[in-house]
Amino acid sequence: MRKFLTTTALAVSMMAGAAQAAENVEVLHWWTSGGEAAALDVLKKDLEAKNITWTDMPVAGGGGTEAMTVLRARVTAGNAPTAVQMLGFDIQDWAKEGALGNLDELAAKDGWDKVIPKALQRFSKYDGHWIAAPVNVHSTNWMWINKAALDKAGGKEPKNWDELVAMLDNFKAQGITPIAAGGQPWQDATIFDAVVLSLGTDFYKQAFIDLDPAALGGEKMKTAFERMTKLRTYVDDNFSGRDWNLASAMVIEGKAGVQFMGDWAKGEFVKAKKVPGTDFVCVRYPETQGAVTFNSDQFAMFKVAADKVPAQMEMAAAIESPTFQSAFNVVKGSAPARSDVSNEAFDACGKKAIADLAEADKSGKLFGSMAHGHANPAAVKNAIYDVVTREFNGELTPDEAIVELPAAVAAAK
Ligand code: BGC
Repeated sequence: MRKFLTTTALAVSMMAGAAQAAENVEVLHWWTSGGEAAALDVLKKDLEAKNITWTDMPVAGGGGTEAMTVLRARVTAGNAPTAVQMLGFDIQDWAKEGALGNLDELAAKDGWDKVIPKALQRFSKYDGHWIAAPVNVHSTNWMWINKAALDKAGGKEPKNWDELVAMLDNFKAQGITPIAAGGQPWQDATIFDAVVLSLGTDFYKQAFIDLDPAALGGEKMKTAFERMTKLRTYVDDNFSGRDWNLASAMVIEGKAGVQFMGDWAKGEFVKAKKVPGTDFVCVRYPETQGAVTFNSDQFAMFKVAADKVPAQMEMAAAIESPTFQSAFNVVKGSAPARSDVSNEAFDACGKKAIADLAEADKSGKLFGSMAHGHANPAAVKNAIYDVVTREFNGELTPDEAIVELPAAVAAAK
């Protein structure tokens, strides 16, 4: 009997040892800027406190294009990470391939259905099953303006296109770079999100959600491209290929006036100890107040060996905890992925992000971001990127772009 107990105890302790050794998550992500890394640290520390070790697989490149290429190679080699930062339609594509695990049990236990907005669930579920854990909600139709430069320009936030152009001209006269930009296709597309949305929420929907050829190739789209051409005249000579966070730094340091970027930019301002309303101003791109083009970072959970599943589930549970949702998103610049998280810990921009999101959702003006994979699958998104970037860089005229855009989308569908 004694021997039996000892053997059992040994077996149990060996199993515990084995389970402990397996308490590790390997995470592929593109959060490599200062603000992003600070936010990711909140997650790493949270898991460390739960005795889960973290194997980091960072793949630099804003918007995640490079990360998705590396992921494909890993999965093809039969070596999927535990969890992967992913956007919108990419999650659905991986689910369609049968590569993702199943979070239903955890989601049911923790009541995710009731607290995670339906707009996010549309991407976190496939065929009715939970496959990903949403971390946040970002939005792309923002302007990040250097406060001192704005004050010198009269202190009034631009409310329409003409006022925006006047502000940019004033920045030029001040001797700073009017627009801090990084010439990369996803960054050009992020600006395009806002420019198209500013021409009407119906137009945004027809063009990017419905992919209506008449909207993609019509007069309003021509206006959108003409505005891109005009905006291009306000960037500096070295903008090509610049990372988005370096562009944010230009606004932070007062070398540039404004950046058109998603609210992950705020993570950089916060990291640099800058305060909204004092050092910088966060406002919606002119004529888009009330509407929101969103993207949500989610951790897609891959099918992994059985001994890795407990840590994977603990990671997913940690991500959805309200305390984590607040702590992480305060640093990241995003709004929580749950509708029941208090806005108390958030700064003025964060409170505005949360309020704008709720308002847009209620009024039917919440749309998936084209630039960040929440309007279309990657093939269509990349086809749009291509035309937008070529037009922005003067390889296509607006007239040519409105012929190419519907054609490129049709070919990619
Ligand atoms: C992601 C953000 C990230 C940004 C820049 C976006 O697609 O949603 O979390 O900070 O890319 O890297």
